Amino acid sequence: MEKILIIDDNKLILKSLKESISKMGYTTLEAEDGEAGLLLVRTEHPDLVITDFQMPGIDGLEVLSKIRKLNISLPVILLTGFGDVVLTIKSIQLGAFDFLEKPIDPVKLKSTIQFALNSVKVSNSLNEVLHVDASSVHMLEDNILVGKTPQMKEIFKNIGRISMSKVNVLIQGETGTGKELIARLVHYFGITINQPLVVVNCSALSESLLESELFGHVKGSFTGSIRDKKGKFELAGEGTILLDEISEISLNTQVKLLRVIQELEFERVGGEEVIPMKARIITATNRNLETLIKEGKFREDLYYRLKVFTIDLPPLRERKEDIRDLVIHFLYKLNKRFNKNVVKIGEGVIEMLKAHDWLGNVRELENTILQAIVMSKSDVLEKENITLNFRQQPDGKVIQELPQFRSLAELEKYHIKRILEEVNWNKLEASHILDITRPTLNAKIEKYELVRD
Ligand SMILES: Nc1ncnc2c1ncn2[C@@H]1O[C@H](COP(=O)(O)OP(=O)(O)OP(=O)(O)O)[C@@H](O)[C@H]1O
Ligand SMILES: [Mg+2]
Repeated sequence: MEKILIIDDNKLILKSLKESISKMGYTTLEAEDGEAGLLLVRTEHPDLVITDFQMPGIDGLEVLSKIRKLNISLPVILLTGFGDVVLTIKSIQLGAFDFLEKPIDPVKLKSTIQFALNSVKVSNSLNEVLHVDASSVHMLEDNILVGKTPQMKEIFKNIGRISMSKVNVLIQGETGTGKELIARLVHYFGITINQPLVVVNCSALSESLLESELFGHVKGSFTGSIRDKKGKFELAGEGTILLDEISEISLNTQVKLLRVIQELEFERVGGEEVIPMKARIITATNRNLETLIKEGKFREDLYYRLKVFTIDLPPLRERKEDIRDLVIHFLYKLNKRFNKNVVKIGEGVIEMLKAHDWLGNVRELENTILQAIVMSKSDVLEKENITLNFRQQPDGKVIQELPQFRSLAELEKYHIKRILEEVNWNKLEASHILDITRPTLNAKIEKYELVRD
């Protein structure tokens, strides 16, 4: 029979809780203050602790944090006054399983206890998973790349091949496949390791700002340029410049970039001094540049200069065998960041994740795990806490039952919001997926008063 420890300085509450919990068929232990309760935790090893918050001496939160240090998985339910939001947040942060508001509703009490004890059982039946198979981890400083499918292994080999020379590399892949991560590894794994790595997001800036960002400018070259400024090419020195979302640069800037690559030198905007270019150029794109060439939006000659070596990152749905290791890696990384301790994976979770299409790729997986970790009450990654996003399939089938919408506008609002969340509010990506321009997207965000969750 499971043992439940109740801690409350109010004798009446203690008595009534003891009665109702005994009736449910559990053994009870009682303590009238935090110290006595903690002693019982050490000596009697209860399966669950229910503790009042306000008590003389050490309060419920302190009891909770002390228990957490003694026993990481013993569930603790806190009793709080009505609507104590701050306390609720704090107790959850400190790892409370749940909290019950006073006066205590017996039905809620019973279901919370059952749920807590059951989650311990589930947890005990599972092993901790927080070690990724070493053969699938490739790590440098903070850049950890996980993958052991043949496709990813081939990519690792290629990184090895190109990292000892400074050839230009084009990295192609759908959104969220890890292009930036790969670029970082190319830089850090190779002869550029002690040189700077400079990242420029080409979609974030207007044409003229981008040029001054890339090449720098001299004082007075345009309004507001009050002093000379070095551009990213200069700052990259003999290291790497990563031009992210290269598809977004204008044809004018493309010409200038081509010139830099051909002549290996450039001038700052408005300047005359010729500056040598020694950096390796890595470009990344989630759009098909060959299509853009056909449409006259991207220069073919530049394309060939950039793709001396090409890395094609496969979408996650084509390397589902990596999902388990990725999940473990994200648990490890996100637990640390959010001070959580989700170290086990519930039954069926990996299968469920493998069945999903992951149109937002590894980033979507990471966000899904993040949400689940934040929602989890125990140390187990549970199916219930995993929310998968569904989108229209390439064959036009929608694989999720949508809420019932009356008007087209409602549907549009819902859809835009969902896509935005999926791409982490990267408006450029969202506008590509939605196939509308960015200004149109902005107008719709305003119209529907969309805000980030
Ligand atoms: N193989 C992997 N192992 C571990 N983490 C990964 C892997 N691939 C991607 N990630 C993580 O997924 C997230 C998205 O990766 P990244 O930003 O490199 O994608 P991207 O292809 O540049 O996306 P976008 O096209 O949207 O810019 C990052 O947090 C990254 O660390
Ligand atoms: Mg990127």
